[in-house]
Amino acid sequence: MTTEVQNLFDQVSQMQAQVEQYPVSNNDDLERFRIEFIGTKGKVKDLLAAIKDVPNTEKKAYGQTVNALKQVAEERYATLKEQFESNQTTKGPDFDLTMPGDAVRIGSRHPLNLVRNQIIEIFKRIGYVVAEGPEVEDDWHNFTALNFPPDHPARDMQDTFFVQKNPDIALRTHTSSVQVRVMERQKPPIRAIFPGRVFRNETISARSHCYFHQVEGLYIDKNVSFADLKQTLYHFAQEMFGPETKIKLRPSYFPFTEPSAELDVTCFICGGEGCPVCKYSGWVEILGCGMVDPAVLANCGIDPEEYSGFAFGMGIDRITMLRYQIKDIRLMSENDVRFLGQFKAAF
Ligand code: PHE
Repeated sequence: MTTEVQNLFDQVSQMQAQVEQYPVSNNDDLERFRIEFIGTKGKVKDLLAAIKDVPNTEKKAYGQTVNALKQVAEERYATLKEQFESNQTTKGPDFDLTMPGDAVRIGSRHPLNLVRNQIIEIFKRIGYVVAEGPEVEDDWHNFTALNFPPDHPARDMQDTFFVQKNPDIALRTHTSSVQVRVMERQKPPIRAIFPGRVFRNETISARSHCYFHQVEGLYIDKNVSFADLKQTLYHFAQEMFGPETKIKLRPSYFPFTEPSAELDVTCFICGGEGCPVCKYSGWVEILGCGMVDPAVLANCGIDPEEYSGFAFGMGIDRITMLRYQIKDIRLMSENDVRFLGQFKAAF
């Protein structure tokens, strides 16, 4: 064997040591390894090409040696490649899972909705269903069927938003209009509440707005008495404001109820001792109520000889302002998240 050929064989065995010891600890190293040894311009290719300088007698032995080296290099490459791939799946993706994420901002319920939902829940538990009526109402449902005489001040242009050129259409001034719609549609027994938005042509100030929210209640059946009304409202007041709450009914007047009353509850801020919220009286007024006037029943196609019932209506904004001691009703519609975000954990 000539020294040149011996040299080639030596190179192959040195290369074998290099292939076995080449440091590979990640995918980048592995790619470098591939290019250096088994790529199309790699060292193993060069050694194979050198076969042309080997005499015929040695060609076979030389070819086998280089091919054995090639196989070693390819096997090492395959093994490492597989190893890195399986490591990757168990290690997870190539980013830091422990980094804090982008916070998702979760909104909160509007305080008016918190209070409305609580009122609805209380009445649902004693068998009331929820109904709704239109905000744009006609004269019949908002006034006439409810016994408002034609010259009643509530019908005045100053109190009510009428649609220009059509005095029959107005924005409803109270949710009592839904009483009429429900009684026209449904036969007693009726036990329902009507939450919704109402509108009045008021000068906007800290205490009043041109729109606000009410929940109306209506109960019509045989032999419904004022005692039923009082007990229902007492139950409501205790559920809403706490078991210590006392109630007081003061005589009042509404065209569509007879007799009529206002309901006061012991101040739920001071418990009746006197504070700025109740103006040191110990009581706060929260709703109007009364026995549905027989004329209203008749207007809605219900026989007042057979049926009687009661109705009540409360302002959600007013109760919300009392409960949270909100000093300005305009905050309710300003959509300021600094205000709205404060009511998250209320209930
Ligand atoms: N609709 C009346 C108001 O807006 C409240 C009310 C409702 C009174 C039902 C009696 C019965 O002031």
